[in-house]
Amino acid sequence: MGLAIGILGLGYVGTTTAACLLKDGHRVVGVDVNPEKVAAIGEGRSPVVEPGVAELLAAGAREGRLSSTADIGPHLDRLDMVLICVGTPSRADGKLEMTHLLEVTRQLGRGLRERAPTGKPLLLVYRSTMPPGTMERLVLPTLAKLVGEGPGRRYEVAFNPEFLRESTAVEDYYAPPKIVIGEREKGITRRLLGIYDGIEAPLFEVPFAVAEMVKFVDNSFHALKVAFGNEIGRICASRDIDPQAVADIFLADTKLNISPVYLRPGGPFGGSCLPKDLSAMLALARESGLAVPVLAGAKESNGLHLAWIAQRIRELAPPPGPVLLLGLSFKSGTDDLRNSPLLDLASLLLDTGYRLDVYDPDLDPDRLVGVNFAVALEHQEILLAHLRQDLERAADGARLAVLGKPIPGVRERLPAGLPVFDITRLRHGDG
Ligand SMILES: NC(=O)c1ccc[n+]([C@@H]2O[C@H](COP(=O)([O-])OP(=O)(O)OC[C@H]3O[C@@H](n4cnc5c(N)ncnc54)[C@H](O)[C@@H]3O)[C@@H](O)[C@H]2O)c1
Repeated sequence: MGLAIGILGLGYVGTTTAACLLKDGHRVVGVDVNPEKVAAIGEGRSPVVEPGVAELLAAGAREGRLSSTADIGPHLDRLDMVLICVGTPSRADGKLEMTHLLEVTRQLGRGLRERAPTGKPLLLVYRSTMPPGTMERLVLPTLAKLVGEGPGRRYEVAFNPEFLRESTAVEDYYAPPKIVIGEREKGITRRLLGIYDGIEAPLFEVPFAVAEMVKFVDNSFHALKVAFGNEIGRICASRDIDPQAVADIFLADTKLNISPVYLRPGGPFGGSCLPKDLSAMLALARESGLAVPVLAGAKESNGLHLAWIAQRIRELAPPPGPVLLLGLSFKSGTDDLRNSPLLDLASLLLDTGYRLDVYDPDLDPDRLVGVNFAVALEHQEILLAHLRQDLERAADGARLAVLGKPIPGVRERLPAGLPVFDITRLRHGDG
C-alpha cells in the first residue's frame, strides 16, 4: 500500500514528481491555484510538456490514484506527506519571490491546526528552491505560529531540493545525482526515504541552510561552467582553433579538470603556472578583441580572496598580533616562492603593522636558486627577519596561527589554546 501524498504546485517539478510517485504505487492529490492545471490533473492530463509524464499520469488516474483540488485543507486528514513545489521565480532585484511559498505555508499551518490527530506527524517536504535561512526564519516560525506548536508532534518539516532537468525530468527523478535532506535533527526525516525506495544515490542529511545553499551552489556552478566553456570557445574560434577538439581533451581529463581538485573553499591560487597562464589567456582574448569576464573575474576574485583572508586575520587578532604564519611557499612539498599568495599575505600583514613569525619546513633559504632565488631576494626582509626554523619558539607568544598550506603534524606541535585560522579549508564561522 503506497502513501497518500499531496503535491502543492503543479508546474514542471510538481507534475513530474506526481507522475513518478504514481508510477511507484502512491496516491497523489495535486493542488494548484491555477484552475486549468487543477482541471487537467483531475482528468489525468499533464499540465506541462515533459517526456513520459502524460502516460504516467494517465495510468495513475485510470487506477483511481490521482485527484486534484484547489484547496488542500480538507485533504490533510488523509495525507501522509505533502510536497511543496510552488514556484519561487526571480524578482527584479535578483532575489527569489517567496510569496507563493509563504502563502502555501500559511494554508498548511491553518489546515494543520484543524487536522484530526492521527498519532503521526504530517511530513511537509519543501522542494521549491529557496535562499539559505528560509526554512529556519520563514517556514518554521510561520507554521509554529499558525499550528500553535513547533514541529515534532503534529507535523515534521524537511527541505529536499529537486535536481531534475526539464526534458529529462522523469529519468532524472529515478537517477538523481544525490538526495539531499535538510532537517532539524539528522535522520529525523528518514521516513521520507520511503518515496525514494529503489533509487540509488548518495544521501546527505544536513541542516536546513546547507541543503538550501547546495541548490544555489549547484546551479551557480552549472552557469559558471557554461559561461567558462563558451569563453574558451570564443577564444578558440577567434584563432581558428577547433573549440570542440580542445573541449574533447579538456573534458577527457578527469584527474585535474572534471574532478574535485581545485574546488574546495580554501586559499587563493598561486604558484608559477596558474596566475601566469591565466594572464596569458586574458592577453590572447584582448588581442582577439574579446571580452571574457569569467576568466578575468577569476583573477580579480583571487585578489579579493586574499584581501578577505587578511581582513579575517585582522578580526581574529588585530595588529600588532603577533601572528604565526605557517607556510610561505605556494604549496606543500615545494620551496617554490613564485607568485605565492602566502608571500603576498606576509607582506600585507607586515604592511598593516603586524609582528609576524613565519614557519615553513619546505623552505631552506640557503638552497634557493634561479628565479626562485630572485623572488626570495625581492622579499628578503621576510626571509631574513621573520622566517623561523624553530616552530615552538616562533609560536611562543603568538595570538593567532594562520595555516597557509597543509604541513603534516604542525598543529600537534602548536601550544594548546593557540587559535588556528586554517585557510586551506575554510570553515563555518571563518567568515
Ligand atoms: N523547473 C525545473 O527544472 C526545476 C528544477 C529544480 C527545482 N526547481 C524549483 O522548483 C520550484 C517549482 O519549479 P517549477 O518549474 O515546477 O515552477 P512552475 O512555475 O512551473 O510551477 C509552479 C506552480 O506553483 C503553482 N502555485 C503558485 N502558488 C500556489 C499556491 N498558493 N498554491 C498552489 N499552487 C501554487 C503555480 O500556479 C504553478 O503551477 C521552483 O522553486 C524552482 O526553482 C525547478
